[in-house]
Amino acid sequence: MKKKVFIGLLLFWSCSSFAQKTESYFPPEELTTVGAYYYPEHWDEAQWDRDLQKMAEMGFEFTHFAEFAWAQLEPEEGVYDFKWLDKAVGLAAKHKLKVIMCTSTATPPVWLVRKHPDVLITREDGTQYDHGSRQHASFSNEFYREYAQKMIAELAKHYGDDDRIMGWQLDNEPHSNVDYGDDAQQRFRQWLKKKYKTIEALNDAWGTNFWSGTYRDFSEINIPQHKQWGMNLYQRLDHSRFCDYETSSFLDEQAETIRGYASPKQWITTNYIPMYDARFIGASRELDFISYTRYMVYGEHKGIGPRGYRVGEYSRIAMANDYFRPLTPVYGVMELQPGQVNWGTINSQPLPGAVRLWLWHVFAGGSQFTCTYRFRAPIYGYEQYHYGIVGPDGVTPTRGGLEYQQFIDEVKQLRRKSSLGETPADYLKRKTAILYDPDNTVAINQNKQTTVWDTEQHVLKYYKALKSFGSPVDFIRDTMDFSGYSVIVVPAYQQMSLDLVEKLTDYVKGGGNLIMSCRTGHQDELGHLWEAKHAEPIYELIGSSIEFYDLLRPYAPDTIAMDKEKFAWTSWGDILSPNAETETWAEYSGDFYAGKASVTYNQLGEGTVTYVGADSNQGDLEDAVLRKLYKRLDIDIQNYPEGITVEYRDGFGIAMNYADEDYVMDLSDDVEILIGDKLIPTAGVLVWRLK
Ligand code: GLA
Repeated sequence: MKKKVFIGLLLFWSCSSFAQKTESYFPPEELTTVGAYYYPEHWDEAQWDRDLQKMAEMGFEFTHFAEFAWAQLEPEEGVYDFKWLDKAVGLAAKHKLKVIMCTSTATPPVWLVRKHPDVLITREDGTQYDHGSRQHASFSNEFYREYAQKMIAELAKHYGDDDRIMGWQLDNEPHSNVDYGDDAQQRFRQWLKKKYKTIEALNDAWGTNFWSGTYRDFSEINIPQHKQWGMNLYQRLDHSRFCDYETSSFLDEQAETIRGYASPKQWITTNYIPMYDARFIGASRELDFISYTRYMVYGEHKGIGPRGYRVGEYSRIAMANDYFRPLTPVYGVMELQPGQVNWGTINSQPLPGAVRLWLWHVFAGGSQFTCTYRFRAPIYGYEQYHYGIVGPDGVTPTRGGLEYQQFIDEVKQLRRKSSLGETPADYLKRKTAILYDPDNTVAINQNKQTTVWDTEQHVLKYYKALKSFGSPVDFIRDTMDFSGYSVIVVPAYQQMSLDLVEKLTDYVKGGGNLIMSCRTGHQDELGHLWEAKHAEPIYELIGSSIEFYDLLRPYAPDTIAMDKEKFAWTSWGDILSPNAETETWAEYSGDFYAGKASVTYNQLGEGTVTYVGADSNQGDLEDAVLRKLYKRLDIDIQNYPEGITVEYRDGFGIAMNYADEDYVMDLSDDVEILIGDKLIPTAGVLVWRLK
């Protein structure tokens, strides 16, 4: 077996000093705060006062400026113009709206692009993007980085000591920076050199003896062609890590620049799209916290029932909450759809009530704020037809706008309830973690072994079962403390260091309960198979060995039998050979290994390890195994139908209905209903607290 190598992929924020800072950023008694994007540069200056007044009258407490305004902030190289923005900030303050200031780096001005065309991203086919859209410049380009920092420094000098600015948003929806330009090439080589130190170490890690791939020097390494057949897997994996690093380091540089001028009262964040294969989310340690953007109705997600597409898929907000919240001491939601969008495949109207439902869902997850893109519907530009809080006339609230207003009023009503209720003990007892590493997801997706496998769906099968139990869920990383969780799910954790195996073993021996699923632990942290039996380092944990794994054709699925029930599977099955003292919970029914174990349960020290060797087609096996386990562990669970989500936050119970029929919430008499009714219609919300 390979010697232990510990690679801590992520280091996390030290929470001690942060708790105090957070309270000054977001006073707990305010619960949450709501804002709206405004682009003064899109509108006649004479309308700014009217618009910001309207925003404040509707209850919004902050606005968001200068997200895509580099051309207006620095119309010529080195010539800065903040007068217009000063006026807008002044008007926001007049109406008691705080401001999130943005760094505008997603839209470089044309003078920069024409002076240094290399700032434009070069694609794999050698063609370049051009000016005229956004996010077309490369985070790997030295000129782009340099000019961006200069502009940001001027902005921070100007607004860093201004109490009207509550915080900063860096860039916009930063993405993984894939660029085949010269600077990216050089920086990739430097990044590799820093990582591996010697070319021998790189050759070893990349397994270059295979197919004569050996390099003699870092200068010989190019950015891998991802479309080239058979291209070295580890080179591709490292390249995708590098691209993510370019993003996180660019954000860190921006934050450092701002920090040089900004008062400690101003916080710094960025607005990520929740992507579960993005390593840069949570990796920029100079940020005070992270936030996300979410769009629920744009033609892609069916939701539940015929109207479900208007309500959206509940797990998209639920999982984003549970993924973002544990990564930094607090989190926020920077964009939440106010109504119809323009950029989807079919841009339907959300169901009346759905916008408010999403706002409550974000709140239920613990977010400190929600902001919406955008206050006024744009009348020109790529996003023409996108809804705002007010429509194209600039004054009439849209239905979504009114739902924002309703939510804001409701939060104010909760703020007046000064004594917070209790969080029920049974809810806290169900708290479960999912151990997750996006690096692992990228590695699996690069080399799936079967087209039927879907990593995100595999994780969702466990996640959705847990949500139907009414369990609070935290997505955690291997560097975090495991001790606060009585159950940790470890789904398809393919690359696993021996240190992590040891940490998990200690957790179990000390009384923790693990659920590990197929594809876990069969590679070391370099992505090499163990020079041992398949996944051998986890055998002691799971109390079983793995004889082999099988992958079925979609037209020939098999079933797994557990407690007289059958569960269809296709994509991945580990065929297990349990030790004498390990219980077999489920067996394969058909094929040449019928009767062999597919799910096992092992007691180890004070704790237990349940190994689920197969990925079921519908998630019913995962659900049934979790139910059986929670029963064994004596943890009471709820049985919410799909789409009914219940969370507690600050002592408030919140139930949300994404299902296609009414749901009647079973509440005991010792609760006080604050908002809604026990009968919750589709897209409805119920809020209560213990008396
Ligand atoms: C994204 C972007 C915004 C805007 C919206 C439109 O989330 O971050 O700038 O383009 O989409 O829905």
